[in-house]
Amino acid sequence: MLAAAAMLATSLNVNAQKWENLALTPPMGWSSWNKFARNIDEKSIREIADAMVSSGLADCGYEYINIDDCWHGERDADGNIQCDPEKFPSGMKALADYIHSKGLKIGIYSDAGCLTCAGEPGSLGHEYQDAKTYASWGIDYLKYDWCNTPDQVTKGSYRLMRDALRAAGRPILFSICEWGSTEPWKWAGDIGHMWRTTGDIGAHFDCVKFYGAWGELGVLQIVDKNEPLRTYAGPGHWNDPDMLEVGNGMSENEDRAHFTLWCMMAAPLILGNDIRDMSDETKAILSNKDVIAIDQDPLGVQGWRFYVSDGIEYWFKPLSGDDWAMCVFNRTTSPKKVMLDWKDLATYDNITNRKFNAVSTIYNVKNLWTGKEEPSTEKNREITVPGYDVALYRLTPKTK
Ligand code: GLA
Repeated sequence: MLAAAAMLATSLNVNAQKWENLALTPPMGWSSWNKFARNIDEKSIREIADAMVSSGLADCGYEYINIDDCWHGERDADGNIQCDPEKFPSGMKALADYIHSKGLKIGIYSDAGCLTCAGEPGSLGHEYQDAKTYASWGIDYLKYDWCNTPDQVTKGSYRLMRDALRAAGRPILFSICEWGSTEPWKWAGDIGHMWRTTGDIGAHFDCVKFYGAWGELGVLQIVDKNEPLRTYAGPGHWNDPDMLEVGNGMSENEDRAHFTLWCMMAAPLILGNDIRDMSDETKAILSNKDVIAIDQDPLGVQGWRFYVSDGIEYWFKPLSGDDWAMCVFNRTTSPKKVMLDWKDLATYDNITNRKFNAVSTIYNVKNLWTGKEEPSTEKNREITVPGYDVALYRLTPKTK
């Protein structure tokens, strides 16, 4: 009897998998939370979808339109979740159809507990029912939060929703959001496609802001937590250092550094600004295809900070075709002169077993923020990097 029960459990587990091949490169899209928080409705989400296409961002690879917390209405008499009828009068299915008609995908948000972080109905006790509802609406992406879960265990709760999504029959990307509290990078590889590694980001570069019991991390506080986790990331399972704050009030150089470091870390690129109304500077950062290609490189290896000296950080990321991305990040607030002595920068990546060695290989150097080819790695060069800014290069072996 016990043996039969164990066999049944094993056979059930064998079938229980996450949806594969939904995130072979880090997911790209937009989410409502950073800019709009509670203030969302179907009109603005439709306009965001329109802007995603008309601004050219969709053409750069951004595809998900994610509705974060506060879309919810009440559950009906049978326990089915409904959207807020005032904010979303046409219903989620109609919104999904509209977003799909633009060639985009739609994401939604729920929580493993009884209530979401903003106090809306969570999915506890309704996991299979909610997954079925999302599938029937045509949802493509679920962010699943961790508020109000006092007696729950992360791995079990996320596995339950993974199985519910699988059973619902529609491929839905599963984004785990427990803020790194139980090290999901160690257990979520076959459960989710990405997992938050930190608490929430705020639109500030180098400080933590507290609002009562709740705090917002700056870009650098997040970088320092996410960078050491590189061995856990790869195609189909990414470290998620949270949504982008580009265009939400930091300076242009801080925004550029933020975006660059997310790309060097192979992070999901989920925009958090109002893309209907972007400055030219913000748009130029978010739609630099050469920089996005560093993030989206098919090798899928997270880069790392390989050397730090006098407030200057040197980052490397191996790319397909024997290329490398190299970033010089000035972590101080004043401009710094940096001697790029390529032959002195030899490094080794223990994930791909590849070496960067400019003594044995000469690399062509493309500056990805100016778009210009620079002298090859045969020559040393002095550059100046402004405070809280970056220089970003793609290095390609010259023999190619
Ligand atoms: C948590 C998440 C955020 C956002 C809010 C919504 O704080 O970490 O990303 O989804 O909840 O309430």
